[in-house]
Amino acid sequence: MNPVVFIAAKRDGGAHTAGEIAAWIEAYVAGRIGDEQMAAWAMAVYLNGMTPEETAALTAAMIDSGSRLQRGVSTRPRVDKHSTGGVGDKVSILLAPLLACSGLDVPMLSGRGLGATGGTLDKLESIRGFRTDLDAAEIDRVLSEVGCVITGTTLDMVPADRKLYALRDVTGTVSSIPLITASILSKKMAEDLDALVFDVKCGGGSFMQTPERARALADSLVAVGRTYGVATSALLTDMDQPLGRMIGHANEIDESVAALEGRGPQDLIEVTLALGAELLVATGVAADEAAARGLLQDEIDSGAGRETLARMVAAQGGDLEAPRPLAAVSEVAAAEAGWVVAIDAKALGLAAIDLGGGRKRQGDRIDHSVGLEILVRRGDQVESGQPLMRVFGERELLAELDLAQTVQIAADAPPPRPLILI
Ligand code: URA
Repeated sequence: MNPVVFIAAKRDGGAHTAGEIAAWIEAYVAGRIGDEQMAAWAMAVYLNGMTPEETAALTAAMIDSGSRLQRGVSTRPRVDKHSTGGVGDKVSILLAPLLACSGLDVPMLSGRGLGATGGTLDKLESIRGFRTDLDAAEIDRVLSEVGCVITGTTLDMVPADRKLYALRDVTGTVSSIPLITASILSKKMAEDLDALVFDVKCGGGSFMQTPERARALADSLVAVGRTYGVATSALLTDMDQPLGRMIGHANEIDESVAALEGRGPQDLIEVTLALGAELLVATGVAADEAAARGLLQDEIDSGAGRETLARMVAAQGGDLEAPRPLAAVSEVAAAEAGWVVAIDAKALGLAAIDLGGGRKRQGDRIDHSVGLEILVRRGDQVESGQPLMRVFGERELLAELDLAQTVQIAADAPPPRPLILI
């Protein structure tokens, strides 16, 4: 293959065959295609898009670049949920154990924080001893002992994505829908699933800022997922304000545990039940959405979900009951009375990073004790001087950001905005 001819075809709006794409990705992983050529091609894809067939071929080529998880002896349906990333999104930490106690196997391979959005692995690492670097045999062991596991992709899985993602990150090509689709699905399809649900976040605190873009990504993910025979569906959920109250790491684990003890914020529980219901119905474990929600709620009420989370943590070397210290706390108060009409999720996600809770460069260490607790929601009425949020960490690190400005207050109540968008 002549790389210049291959790139020029996409630059000029043409399409590639599955064979050409497979050869291209194989050559890139083997080092015969350089980063500069891959970057030029990624930009051509960013500008001109890909056909659904090309996107499916790219996904297949990326899966084939590495190993896949093998099914063990379990005959339980195998499922996963993937979120496109949000602020305060801790659904995975509740949902994996709830699904496991409903009779499903959940081999959840998760990621780290990206941009303003937090990462499940980073959050779980605030639990003392918890390991997120399990190998395939360990994943299998935890899955057969507990029914769920949350860890990173193993080193030999999807190397093409690891390489291409790092390149996209520094070439302004992350937000291309076909490239996101292939990146996410290659990792999920390598888990060998029966059913998969996507939580496509929509709004200021997510990659997809408008419902139109979020819908286009959801359609692409579902269409390619189904070509693998996996029952794939997607919900669009609101990310114009953080999910739940906590943004951070240790505090998000505390909130997740509280939610499994029946003390969860309503929006977090609602998104968890809605996504879980999709999987329970898709696998035939529940007859319909109402039955599925009932099952998940029972597991919260009985404490089974909480107990399963503790068992998963223990099986991955951690201790859920060990204290998770939080940094010194201070409050931010409303400067005026009125109605909360907007909460800037992205600014709050970035503030949590500035407090030390995220990486500004690859390899930065994360401080798990810092973060924010948002005390109000869009549509709440507030008094002047009323606390809007609590900050865990050193406020001086946010010198340039007036946190009170991240909560917009107006004289009139905002129109309602649904949590789950149609
Ligand atoms: N998450 C991924 O894994 N890949 C993307 O391209 C975007 C979000």
